[in-house]
Amino acid sequence: MAQFQKQIRRIGVFTSGGDAPGMNAAIRAVVRVGIAQKLEVYGIHAGYLGMLENNIQPLQLRDMANIIQRGGTVLKTARSTEFMKPEGREKAAQNLRAAGIDALVCIGGDGSFRGAHALWEEQQIPAVGVPGTIDNDIFGSDKTIGFDTAVNTALDAIDRIRDTAASHDRLFIVEVMGRNSGFIASHVGLAGGAEEIFTPEGNTTVEKAVDRIKDAISRGKTSSILITAEGQKPGRAYDLADAIRKKSGMDAKVCILGHQQRGGSPTAADRILASRMGAAAVDALLKGYCDIMIGTEGERLVQVPLDLVAKHERKTQIDLLSLANILAT
Ligand code: F6P
Repeated sequence: MAQFQKQIRRIGVFTSGGDAPGMNAAIRAVVRVGIAQKLEVYGIHAGYLGMLENNIQPLQLRDMANIIQRGGTVLKTARSTEFMKPEGREKAAQNLRAAGIDALVCIGGDGSFRGAHALWEEQQIPAVGVPGTIDNDIFGSDKTIGFDTAVNTALDAIDRIRDTAASHDRLFIVEVMGRNSGFIASHVGLAGGAEEIFTPEGNTTVEKAVDRIKDAISRGKTSSILITAEGQKPGRAYDLADAIRKKSGMDAKVCILGHQQRGGSPTAADRILASRMGAAAVDALLKGYCDIMIGTEGERLVQVPLDLVAKHERKTQIDLLSLANILAT
């Protein structure tokens, strides 16, 4: 973990990468705790893009009114290719210095943290990360902001699909988000009673899924739901349906839940997590700590060096997948 000596007076907060429900609660906590600690807090519009375009404005207590319950991010978000180059980061640092920003709170995922780490290493701009992504795939934190809401949104859809699947004796494949991560798939699969769960880690095969469905049919089951993460092999949900059809002759209906999983009002759990993490990020900066992410270990908040977060991947919990298999008999 790095430390810096400068007394901070003005901090910047931004959201970056895919949005996640609860990001607004985190922004609100940063602004209100910052102001309570006599800091000036500036909002940087659309993440690293806003740093490059000098889109940086002061935030006041009242700007944070009525946002805790809103999904998305009031600061907007973006992915910037220019910032990925050292020249881009130099320009961003110049703009931050010109705006008098002493330190940053970065709310985002692993790509956003790689950017914050590089900004510290190359330009000595101190930053603390707050993990905000529905994918829950950030090394060093048991939970990320937005995951709980996304799982509940997907689960609500799956419960509805189960009604129609049961009425028509059908097989459904429901695709959830997670390009590189099976966290949503595994949690939703377990909570929704899925017969099989496909994750990007390749934990199962079409053959195994077909065997499980046939076995279930022989025991009297008339409908089944398979959950698949968008990043799984052999491909997206329609490819999986084709592969199942070729292997078994069984027809599967496909439902892709898509970006609705990223929106909506955050759950209480996400609002509380975001509020605690936002407040802890400001506290860490006031103590002179930087180049870290605020994570969770159980109920406890922890500080994790950003280079560790950036270097490691967090894999789906395999035990949830095997439990889901046992329970969906
Ligand atoms: O926010 C994470 C995530 O939702 C992934 O699960 C998904 O693969 C990706 O973002 C999609 O991002 P975008 O909609 O920005 O292309």
